[in-house]
Amino acid sequence: MKSLPLHRPTPTAAFNTRRRQCLALASGLPLVLAGCAASAPADTPAADALSAYPPVPAGPETGADPAVHQRVQALGRGVNFGNIFDAPREGDWGLRADEHLIDLVGRDGFTQSVRLPVRWSNHASVDASARIDPVFFARVERTVDRLLARGASVLLNIHHYRQFDGDPLDPGETAVDPAVVDLRFLALWQQIAERFAGHGPALMFEIYNEPHGRLEPLWNDLLSRALRIIRQRNPERVVVIGPTDWNSANALPRLVLPPDRFVALTVHHYEPFAFTHQGAEWVQPVRPLGTVCCDAAQQAQMLGLLDLAAADGRRRQRPVLVGEFGAYSKAPLPARVAWLRLMRDAMEARQMPWMVWELASGFGLYDPDTRRMRPELFQALFGA
Ligand code: BGC
Repeated sequence: MKSLPLHRPTPTAAFNTRRRQCLALASGLPLVLAGCAASAPADTPAADALSAYPPVPAGPETGADPAVHQRVQALGRGVNFGNIFDAPREGDWGLRADEHLIDLVGRDGFTQSVRLPVRWSNHASVDASARIDPVFFARVERTVDRLLARGASVLLNIHHYRQFDGDPLDPGETAVDPAVVDLRFLALWQQIAERFAGHGPALMFEIYNEPHGRLEPLWNDLLSRALRIIRQRNPERVVVIGPTDWNSANALPRLVLPPDRFVALTVHHYEPFAFTHQGAEWVQPVRPLGTVCCDAAQQAQMLGLLDLAAADGRRRQRPVLVGEFGAYSKAPLPARVAWLRLMRDAMEARQMPWMVWELASGFGLYDPDTRRMRPELFQALFGA
């Protein structure tokens, strides 16, 4: 569990008023809410605004279609292209979606499954329409297309919409009116789902990375609204959904999935956290260095979480992806190698495909300076 300071934004009266008109205008699902929040008159309760984006009608668990089981299992061993588009701006965290990174995919025994985390919220208008900057949109699309052209499967998400979780913003981010935070999330999906609707099944969507904090009580409702938007133009695309508490398997019992046969589950796994995140500057308090891994108690914790996730997948008849796991570079290298190998073996024993966090930054398998894989880490995950 990542401890970040939390606050819960309160909707303002002014914004609530502006939304009433949007709702009056909206018949069925809106195609675009653009301009709506900026022009509507007064006095609408916050919840009403969301009714422009209804949830999927509730129903019993459907399980996943056999095609979803097959496509998710086929993800096999994957990698996160992290710290690129999930930074406030591409390049802010030292990496860009450069050709030499993309060319690694599918080469020399390396993966063909890529998760692409994207901080859309920081490249979109601050009103409820969240109009995505066309230059950024084209840049992400081009990256997706270059990955797909290498034969990769690509899992595209919304990542680090800080205000959505109620987290402090990163440098270079602008706060939006709290009343439009959730509407912007849905408006982002409206645009992303529309833009990528023509792509083949190798492109998959993930509704949101690691919901937590402010989202705890809101997540089941918002994910269902987002899914309904996605389904307008992407009826059979695989959509991956994880639980709250930063996608912890412990939170799976609280996750309510809409009845949809093209949804798969995802969890993230960074336990023992004191080991994987030692020295991580973005975690407060910073965990001390020198923790090693993996004694019997640590192993029990690691395997126990995976067992929970696997059992939940069986219960729901849906495949479970481990969408992130990794150990930061400040942990001792031999222990990182041991942890990665143990995780790999344990996930594969449970038929869980995985995507390691991440390619070429602080957890990275690949050294962007020498332009080589770090051999011990690579071997632990992709070797014999
Ligand atoms: C976050 C990264 C972070 C990683 C490990 C990811 O979900 O997006 O910024 O480095 O988790 O904490």
